[in-house]
Amino acid sequence: MSHPIKIAPSILAADFTRLGRQIAEAEAAGADWIHVDVMDGRFVPNITIGPLIVEAVRRSTRLPLDAHLMIVEPEKYIEAFVTAGADRLTVHAETCPHLHRTVQHIRAAGARPGVVINPATPLSAIEEIAADVDLILIMSVNPGFGGQQFIEASVDKIARTRALCERVGSRAEIEVDGGIDVTTTPRVVAAGATVLVVGSAVFRHPAGVAAAIGALRQAIG
Ligand code: DX5
Ligand code: ZN
Repeated sequence: MSHPIKIAPSILAADFTRLGRQIAEAEAAGADWIHVDVMDGRFVPNITIGPLIVEAVRRSTRLPLDAHLMIVEPEKYIEAFVTAGADRLTVHAETCPHLHRTVQHIRAAGARPGVVINPATPLSAIEEIAADVDLILIMSVNPGFGGQQFIEASVDKIARTRALCERVGSRAEIEVDGGIDVTTTPRVVAAGATVLVVGSAVFRHPAGVAAAIGALRQAIG
């Protein structure tokens, strides 16, 4: 099935001294979801946001909150992030030896489950779970930091994800995260991405958040 293309600004690139205002700007400009990057300094070499900030983000917008958990043992924190207001919880296949159980746990806790794989992780790692998730996230940079360069091989990986979903009857959204801007957008959309995570190209755009989201919409076509 086909989804309209969604834009999910990543607050990692926002100005945290005025986070609520930045999120409101993104919402007013037509953002579809707010993407929240949770990092633990263990799975990835950076530490960012916990449930406390998710709860504050929840109070600042009505948009769905898309939490990307770049943490080891994510199953320990599912209830905390759902209680804080996350609508979607996406876990890395690399951190979940019992991925099927973790996905069921997220759904039972009341959120929509997603799985994500790093650039070097083969798509086959999620083949058996693709039909059970609401979202598949293909990392197009190595997770940990915003502002990195898009990895070209991600375009083909997205196309293969689309083919996998069709083969197994998965209705999951196909999300891409890392280095998405007006140049990479048309290519990932053509390959089958339905949700674009965009950090720097939204919150660090010289013309501002609204202009940035407008430019991305134009690039989507
Ligand atoms: C990277 C994060 C991304 C990041 C993307 O580990 O998962 O969501 O914010 O930032 P840009 O769009 O700047 O590549
Ligand atoms: Zn992310």
